[in-house]
Amino acid sequence: MQVTDTIINVRNAVKTWRMAGARIAFVPTMGNLHIGHLKLVEEAQKSADRVAVSIFVNPTQFGVGEDFEAYPRTEAEDKQKLDDAGVDLLFLPSVGEMYGNDAKTVVSVKNLSNLHCGASRPGHFDGVATVVCKFLNIVQPDIGFLGQKDFQQLAVIRKMVNDLNIPVEIRPVETVRESSGLALSSRNGYLSPEELRVAPKLYQALCAARDGILMGKKGYSALEDEAVIYLQEAGFVPDYFSVCRVGDLLKADKQDTDLVVLAAAKLGRTRLIDNIRVSTA
Ligand code: PAJ
Repeated sequence: MQVTDTIINVRNAVKTWRMAGARIAFVPTMGNLHIGHLKLVEEAQKSADRVAVSIFVNPTQFGVGEDFEAYPRTEAEDKQKLDDAGVDLLFLPSVGEMYGNDAKTVVSVKNLSNLHCGASRPGHFDGVATVVCKFLNIVQPDIGFLGQKDFQQLAVIRKMVNDLNIPVEIRPVETVRESSGLALSSRNGYLSPEELRVAPKLYQALCAARDGILMGKKGYSALEDEAVIYLQEAGFVPDYFSVCRVGDLLKADKQDTDLVVLAAAKLGRTRLIDNIRVSTA
């Protein structure tokens, strides 16, 4: 596996692959890799000849007082995992390499970045959209792989790619979970043993909401309220629990058939997010 921290080296590697006619896939990450990330790599390898991965803890997507400094950085282990997985190129840029000292451009996907996680983390999705746009310009992959675990992030990036005519196909990958149902996340490492016991209840609340919808309960706000109470009683501080339309992530109403239930809740100092798709068609 080639490892580099410079944009020019990435461009040169990709150019060589292109000249050989290779189809190129890209997986952006912030490192501290787990099986969820490796699933993205595996899917990328199935669809492309060459796979590039980035590890970059992007400062612009963290708000003041969030966990940018504390975010787990495990470069040696991550490198080993990606090498073992057969990744072709690992891009590990510094903040300076990505932003220089005079970056002034921000990509903002309006009316999507302000909802849900964006409401409690102002500026977060601008940071995500901007850095992913930059990575797509640097790597210029044919296909980019993103996890459904971060459903709103996936929606923001898809909209950006469409609106800005970025020539890449975005492929979503299903959420990888523990046997308890807990979605794998780098932030699960913050959880105490007791919190780890409680954390799967977030997915259980989502499953209960899905079952309620499938049983024909159309009063979605009652389902949401029930879930919030369930989570509070389990020890969470819920941020939002929302039955939405997949298309624009606005609140679903009775006519909508392609739904996603989005949830975020704090458990101690850890903010967990998860979601579940529901089709009523
Ligand atoms: P990070 O949290 O490291 O996640 C990188 C990718 O892995 C994302 O597409 C995310 O949705 C996916 N992922 C995380 N946990 C997953 C799981 N349990 N199952 C399947 N996929 C999972 O998301 C980011 O980094 C950043 O915001 C980034 C897109 C890299 C921009 O900085």
